[in-house]
Amino acid sequence: MLLKSGAYNNVFKKRLLEIASDAEDIFTVTPKKSIRINTLKAEKEEIVKKLSDYIIEEMPWYEHGLWVRDEISKTIEHHLGYFYIQEAASMLSAIVLSPSKHEFIVDMCAAPGSKTTQMAMMMDGEGVIIANDVNSKRIKALAHNVQRGGAKNVIITNYDARYMPAMEADKILLDAPCTASGKIMYENVQKKWNYNRIRIMSRKQKQLMKTAYRLLRKEGEMVYSTCSLEPEENEEVIDFAIRELGMETLPFKIEGIKMREAITSWREKEFDDSIKNCRRVWPQDNGTEGFFICKLKKF
Ligand SMILES: C[S@@+](CC[C@H](N)C(=O)[O-])C[C@H]1O[C@@H](n2cnc3c(N)ncnc32)[C@H](O)[C@@H]1O
Repeated sequence: MLLKSGAYNNVFKKRLLEIASDAEDIFTVTPKKSIRINTLKAEKEEIVKKLSDYIIEEMPWYEHGLWVRDEISKTIEHHLGYFYIQEAASMLSAIVLSPSKHEFIVDMCAAPGSKTTQMAMMMDGEGVIIANDVNSKRIKALAHNVQRGGAKNVIITNYDARYMPAMEADKILLDAPCTASGKIMYENVQKKWNYNRIRIMSRKQKQLMKTAYRLLRKEGEMVYSTCSLEPEENEEVIDFAIRELGMETLPFKIEGIKMREAITSWREKEFDDSIKNCRRVWPQDNGTEGFFICKLKKF
Protein backbone atom coordinates (compact mmCIF):
# COMPACT_ATOMS: atom_id res chain seq x y z
CA MET A 1 0.00 0.00 0.00
CA LEU A 2 1.28 3.48 -0.83
CA LEU A 3 0.97 6.40 1.59
CA LYS A 4 0.77 9.99 0.52
CA SER A 5 3.36 12.59 1.48
CA GLY A 6 2.66 14.04 4.93
CA ALA A 7 1.69 10.70 6.49
CA TYR A 8 5.29 9.73 7.11
CA ASN A 9 7.74 10.43 9.87
CA ASN A 10 8.76 14.08 10.14
CA VAL A 11 12.33 13.29 11.15
CA PHE A 12 12.77 11.21 8.02
CA LYS A 13 11.36 14.02 5.91
CA LYS A 14 13.64 16.63 7.49
CA ARG A 15 16.71 14.43 6.99
CA LEU A 16 15.99 13.67 3.35
CA LEU A 17 15.25 17.29 2.52
CA GLU A 18 18.77 18.08 3.71
CA ILE A 19 20.07 15.80 0.96
CA ALA A 20 17.69 16.52 -1.91
CA SER A 21 15.30 19.43 -2.28
CA ASP A 22 12.88 17.21 -4.23
CA ALA A 23 12.97 14.37 -1.66
CA GLU A 24 9.20 14.52 -1.12
CA ASP A 25 8.68 13.44 -4.71
CA ILE A 26 9.54 9.92 -3.55
CA PHE A 27 5.95 9.67 -2.39
CA THR A 28 4.59 10.28 -5.85
CA VAL A 29 6.34 7.14 -7.12
CA THR A 30 4.74 3.71 -7.45
CA PRO A 31 7.70 1.53 -8.46
CA LYS A 32 6.91 -0.56 -11.49
CA LYS A 33 7.33 -4.33 -11.38
CA SER A 34 10.23 -5.69 -13.32
CA ILE A 35 11.77 -8.98 -14.36
CA ARG A 36 15.21 -10.10 -15.45
CA ILE A 37 15.41 -12.66 -18.23
CA ASN A 38 17.43 -15.66 -17.10
CA THR A 39 19.73 -16.25 -20.05
CA LEU A 40 20.86 -19.55 -18.52
CA LYS A 41 17.45 -20.93 -19.42
CA ALA A 42 15.72 -18.70 -21.94
CA GLU A 43 16.17 -16.34 -24.85
CA LYS A 44 14.83 -12.82 -24.52
CA GLU A 45 12.90 -13.01 -27.84
CA GLU A 46 11.16 -16.19 -26.67
CA ILE A 47 10.10 -14.63 -23.35
CA VAL A 48 8.96 -11.38 -24.94
CA LYS A 49 6.80 -13.40 -27.34
CA LYS A 50 5.36 -15.75 -24.73
CA LEU A 51 4.66 -13.07 -22.15
CA SER A 52 3.51 -10.30 -24.45
CA ASP A 53 0.34 -9.80 -22.35
CA TYR A 54 2.46 -8.97 -19.31
CA ILE A 55 5.34 -7.00 -20.70
CA ILE A 56 5.06 -3.23 -20.75
CA GLU A 57 8.46 -2.15 -22.08
CA GLU A 58 12.21 -2.76 -22.08
CA MET A 59 14.40 -1.35 -19.33
CA PRO A 60 16.63 1.37 -20.80
CA TRP A 61 19.68 0.52 -18.69
CA TYR A 62 19.75 -3.27 -18.90
CA GLU A 63 19.29 -5.47 -21.92
CA HIS A 64 17.89 -8.32 -19.81
CA GLY A 65 15.43 -6.17 -17.82
CA LEU A 66 11.74 -5.70 -18.67
CA TRP A 67 8.94 -3.73 -17.01
CA VAL A 68 5.91 -5.93 -16.45
CA ARG A 69 2.46 -6.16 -14.94
CA ASP A 70 2.07 -7.60 -11.47
CA GLU A 71 0.51 -11.06 -11.86
CA ILE A 72 3.46 -12.48 -13.76
CA SER A 73 4.60 -14.65 -10.81
CA LYS A 74 1.89 -17.18 -11.58
CA THR A 75 3.11 -17.94 -15.08
CA ILE A 76 4.66 -21.28 -15.98
CA GLU A 77 7.75 -19.45 -17.30
CA HIS A 78 8.32 -18.03 -13.82
CA HIS A 79 8.05 -21.45 -12.18
CA LEU A 80 10.50 -22.81 -14.73
CA GLY A 81 13.05 -20.11 -13.93
CA TYR A 82 13.01 -18.50 -17.36
CA PHE A 83 12.96 -15.13 -15.64
CA TYR A 84 13.43 -13.71 -12.14
CA ILE A 85 11.17 -11.06 -10.60
CA GLN A 86 13.71 -8.45 -9.54
CA GLU A 87 13.47 -4.80 -8.59
CA ALA A 88 14.86 -2.67 -11.40
CA ALA A 89 17.44 -0.61 -9.47
CA SER A 90 18.69 -3.73 -7.67
CA MET A 91 19.91 -5.11 -11.00
CA LEU A 92 22.67 -2.48 -10.92
CA SER A 93 24.88 -4.11 -8.26
CA ALA A 94 25.80 -7.12 -10.41
CA ILE A 95 26.10 -4.96 -13.54
CA VAL A 96 28.65 -2.74 -11.78
CA LEU A 97 30.55 -5.66 -10.23
CA SER A 98 30.63 -7.31 -13.64
CA PRO A 99 31.66 -10.87 -12.67
CA SER A 100 33.18 -12.91 -15.46
CA LYS A 101 33.68 -16.61 -16.18
CA HIS A 102 36.37 -18.32 -14.07
CA GLU A 103 36.27 -15.71 -11.32
CA PHE A 104 35.77 -16.52 -7.65
CA ILE A 105 32.95 -14.38 -6.27
CA VAL A 106 31.68 -14.04 -2.70
CA ASP A 107 28.12 -12.77 -2.30
CA MET A 108 28.18 -12.10 1.43
CA CYS A 109 24.47 -11.39 2.07
CA ALA A 110 22.85 -13.29 -0.75
CA ALA A 111 19.31 -14.36 0.16
CA PRO A 112 16.88 -14.64 -1.55
CA GLY A 113 19.34 -14.69 -4.45
CA SER A 114 18.30 -12.12 -7.03
CA LYS A 115 21.86 -10.89 -7.48
CA THR A 116 23.44 -14.33 -7.00
CA THR A 117 21.38 -15.74 -9.85
CA GLN A 118 22.03 -12.63 -11.95
CA MET A 119 25.79 -13.07 -11.45
CA ALA A 120 25.58 -16.81 -12.22
CA MET A 121 23.96 -15.97 -15.52
CA MET A 122 26.57 -13.28 -16.27
CA MET A 123 29.24 -15.93 -15.64
CA ASP A 124 27.40 -18.39 -17.85
CA GLY A 125 27.46 -20.89 -15.02
CA GLU A 126 31.28 -20.96 -14.85
CA GLY A 127 33.66 -19.88 -12.10
CA VAL A 128 32.40 -20.07 -8.50
CA ILE A 129 30.02 -17.98 -6.43
CA ILE A 130 29.86 -18.46 -2.67
CA ALA A 131 26.34 -17.29 -1.83
CA ASN A 132 26.14 -16.71 1.91
CA ASP A 133 23.41 -15.57 4.24
CA VAL A 134 22.98 -15.67 8.00
CA ASN A 135 19.23 -16.27 7.94
CA SER A 136 18.38 -19.95 7.55
CA LYS A 137 14.78 -19.26 6.51
CA ARG A 138 15.97 -16.96 3.76
CA ILE A 139 18.61 -19.54 2.80
CA LYS A 140 15.75 -21.85 1.82
CA ALA A 141 14.48 -19.23 -0.64
CA LEU A 142 18.04 -18.72 -1.88
CA ALA A 143 18.50 -22.47 -2.50
CA HIS A 144 15.14 -22.64 -4.25
CA ASN A 145 15.96 -19.69 -6.50
CA VAL A 146 19.44 -20.97 -7.33
CA GLN A 147 18.00 -24.34 -8.28
CA ARG A 148 15.10 -22.87 -10.23
CA GLY A 149 17.45 -20.52 -12.07
CA GLY A 150 19.76 -23.38 -13.09
CA ALA A 151 22.74 -21.64 -11.47
CA LYS A 152 25.27 -24.50 -11.38
CA ASN A 153 28.26 -22.57 -10.12
CA VAL A 154 26.79 -21.53 -6.74
CA ILE A 155 27.83 -22.86 -3.33
CA ILE A 156 25.52 -21.83 -0.49
CA THR A 157 26.86 -21.12 3.00
CA ASN A 158 25.13 -20.04 6.21
CA TYR A 159 27.62 -17.89 8.15
CA ASP A 160 27.19 -14.63 9.93
CA ALA A 161 29.25 -12.96 7.20
CA ARG A 162 31.21 -10.97 9.77
CA TYR A 163 32.87 -14.23 10.79
CA MET A 164 33.37 -15.95 7.43
CA PRO A 165 36.56 -18.01 7.19
CA ALA A 166 39.55 -16.69 5.26
CA MET A 167 39.43 -16.78 1.47
CA GLU A 168 40.83 -14.77 -1.42
CA ALA A 169 37.94 -13.67 -3.58
CA ASP A 170 38.45 -12.01 -6.96
CA LYS A 171 35.30 -10.00 -6.39
CA ILE A 172 32.84 -9.44 -3.58
CA LEU A 173 29.26 -8.32 -3.51
CA LEU A 174 28.21 -6.79 -0.21
CA ASP A 175 24.52 -6.11 -0.72
CA ALA A 176 24.17 -5.16 2.89
CA PRO A 177 21.26 -5.57 5.28
CA CYS A 178 19.74 -2.11 5.72
CA THR A 179 16.71 -0.12 6.88
CA ALA A 180 15.34 -0.27 3.31
CA SER A 181 14.28 3.37 3.36
CA GLY A 182 14.55 3.45 -0.43
CA LYS A 183 11.22 1.61 -0.19
CA ILE A 184 9.72 4.26 2.10
CA MET A 185 6.70 4.68 -0.21
CA TYR A 186 5.43 1.41 1.29
CA GLU A 187 3.54 1.54 4.57
CA ASN A 188 5.33 -1.43 6.18
CA VAL A 189 8.71 0.29 5.68
CA GLN A 190 7.42 3.60 7.06
CA LYS A 191 6.16 1.89 10.20
CA LYS A 192 9.62 0.46 10.90
CA TRP A 193 11.60 3.64 10.23
CA ASN A 194 13.43 5.05 13.24
CA TYR A 195 16.83 6.60 13.82
CA ASN A 196 17.98 3.89 16.20
CA ARG A 197 17.69 1.25 13.49
CA ILE A 198 19.86 3.38 11.21
CA ARG A 199 22.66 3.55 13.81
CA ILE A 200 22.47 -0.21 14.49
CA MET A 201 22.58 -0.99 10.77
CA SER A 202 25.44 1.40 10.16
CA ARG A 203 27.54 -0.33 12.81
CA LYS A 204 26.81 -3.75 11.32
CA GLN A 205 27.49 -2.54 7.78
CA LYS A 206 30.94 -1.32 8.81
CA GLN A 207 31.68 -4.70 10.42
CA LEU A 208 30.59 -6.43 7.21
CA MET A 209 32.75 -4.03 5.18
CA LYS A 210 35.73 -4.93 7.35
CA THR A 211 35.15 -8.62 6.59
CA ALA A 212 34.70 -7.90 2.88
CA TYR A 213 38.13 -6.29 2.91
CA ARG A 214 39.60 -9.36 4.62
CA LEU A 215 38.00 -11.81 2.14
CA LEU A 216 39.06 -9.87 -0.96
CA ARG A 217 42.38 -10.58 -2.71
CA LYS A 218 44.82 -7.76 -3.35
CA GLU A 219 43.74 -5.77 -6.43
CA GLY A 220 40.30 -7.36 -6.01
CA GLU A 221 37.12 -5.33 -6.53
CA MET A 222 33.87 -5.18 -4.64
CA VAL A 223 30.47 -3.57 -4.84
CA TYR A 224 28.71 -2.22 -1.78
CA SER A 225 25.00 -1.61 -2.22
CA THR A 226 21.91 -0.93 -0.12
CA CYS A 227 18.26 -0.07 -0.72
CA SER A 228 18.56 2.63 1.94
CA LEU A 229 18.72 6.39 1.44
CA GLU A 230 20.37 7.08 4.80
CA PRO A 231 23.88 8.64 4.72
CA GLU A 232 24.89 6.64 7.82
CA GLU A 233 24.26 3.40 5.90
CA ASN A 234 25.82 4.55 2.65
CA GLU A 235 28.42 7.33 2.43
CA GLU A 236 29.48 6.87 6.06
CA VAL A 237 30.23 3.16 5.46
CA ILE A 238 32.21 3.96 2.30
CA ASP A 239 34.11 6.71 4.12
CA PHE A 240 35.01 4.07 6.74
CA ALA A 241 36.28 1.74 3.97
CA ILE A 242 38.44 4.52 2.53
CA ARG A 243 39.86 5.97 5.74
CA GLU A 244 40.07 2.91 8.00
CA LEU A 245 40.73 0.12 5.48
CA GLY A 246 42.60 2.02 2.76
CA MET A 247 40.21 1.02 -0.01
CA GLU A 248 39.63 3.21 -3.05
CA THR A 249 36.38 3.96 -4.84
CA LEU A 250 36.17 3.39 -8.58
CA PRO A 251 34.06 5.38 -11.04
CA PHE A 252 31.42 3.59 -13.12
CA LYS A 253 28.90 4.56 -15.75
CA ILE A 254 25.59 3.03 -16.81
CA GLU A 255 23.70 4.47 -19.74
CA GLY A 256 19.93 4.89 -19.60
CA ILE A 257 19.43 5.48 -15.87
CA LYS A 258 19.64 8.74 -13.95
CA MET A 259 21.92 8.43 -10.94
CA ARG A 260 23.02 11.25 -8.63
CA GLU A 261 26.42 11.66 -7.02
CA ALA A 262 26.76 10.55 -3.42
CA ILE A 263 26.79 13.37 -0.87
CA THR A 264 30.17 14.65 0.30
CA SER A 265 29.15 15.68 3.81
CA TRP A 266 26.43 14.87 6.28
CA ARG A 267 25.74 17.17 9.20
CA GLU A 268 29.05 17.50 11.10
CA LYS A 269 30.89 14.91 8.94
CA GLU A 270 32.96 15.67 5.83
CA PHE A 271 33.49 12.56 3.71
CA ASP A 272 36.51 11.73 1.58
CA ASP A 273 36.21 13.51 -1.76
CA SER A 274 36.37 10.25 -3.75
CA ILE A 275 32.96 9.39 -2.34
CA LYS A 276 31.71 11.24 -5.42
CA ASN A 277 32.31 8.02 -7.38
CA CYS A 278 29.39 6.39 -5.54
CA ARG A 279 25.87 6.81 -6.86
CA ARG A 280 22.40 7.32 -5.41
CA VAL A 281 19.35 6.18 -7.34
CA TRP A 282 16.34 8.28 -6.28
CA PRO A 283 12.87 6.78 -6.88
CA GLN A 284 11.53 9.93 -8.54
CA ASP A 285 14.25 9.87 -11.22
CA ASN A 286 13.47 6.50 -12.81
CA GLY A 287 10.30 5.13 -11.18
CA THR A 288 12.27 2.55 -9.18
CA GLU A 289 12.86 2.01 -5.48
CA GLY A 290 15.75 3.99 -3.95
CA PHE A 291 19.24 2.50 -4.13
CA PHE A 292 22.87 3.26 -3.28
CA ILE A 293 25.83 1.71 -5.04
CA CYS A 294 29.59 1.98 -4.79
CA LYS A 295 32.50 0.14 -6.44
CA LEU A 296 35.69 -0.28 -4.40
CA LYS A 297 39.14 -1.72 -4.88
CA LYS A 298 41.58 -3.22 -2.39
CA PHE A 299 45.26 -2.34 -2.72
C1 LIG B 1 19.38 -6.71 1.19
S1 LIG B 1 19.17 -8.36 1.67
C2 LIG B 1 20.09 -9.20 0.43
C3 LIG B 1 19.36 -9.35 -0.89
C4 LIG B 1 20.10 -10.25 -1.84
N1 LIG B 1 21.46 -9.78 -2.07
C5 LIG B 1 19.38 -10.37 -3.17
O1 LIG B 1 19.78 -9.68 -4.12
O2 LIG B 1 18.44 -11.15 -3.26
C6 LIG B 1 20.27 -8.49 3.02
C7 LIG B 1 20.49 -9.89 3.50
O3 LIG B 1 21.51 -9.84 4.52
C8 LIG B 1 21.29 -10.90 5.38
N2 LIG B 1 22.11 -10.65 6.59
C9 LIG B 1 21.86 -9.82 7.63
N3 LIG B 1 22.87 -9.84 8.51
C10 LIG B 1 23.80 -10.71 8.01
C11 LIG B 1 25.06 -11.18 8.46
N4 LIG B 1 25.60 -10.75 9.60
N5 LIG B 1 25.73 -12.07 7.70
C12 LIG B 1 25.19 -12.53 6.55
N6 LIG B 1 24.00 -12.13 6.07
C13 LIG B 1 23.31 -11.22 6.79
C14 LIG B 1 19.79 -10.93 5.58
O4 LIG B 1 19.36 -12.18 6.04
C15 LIG B 1 19.31 -10.60 4.16
O5 LIG B 1 19.02 -11.77 3.47
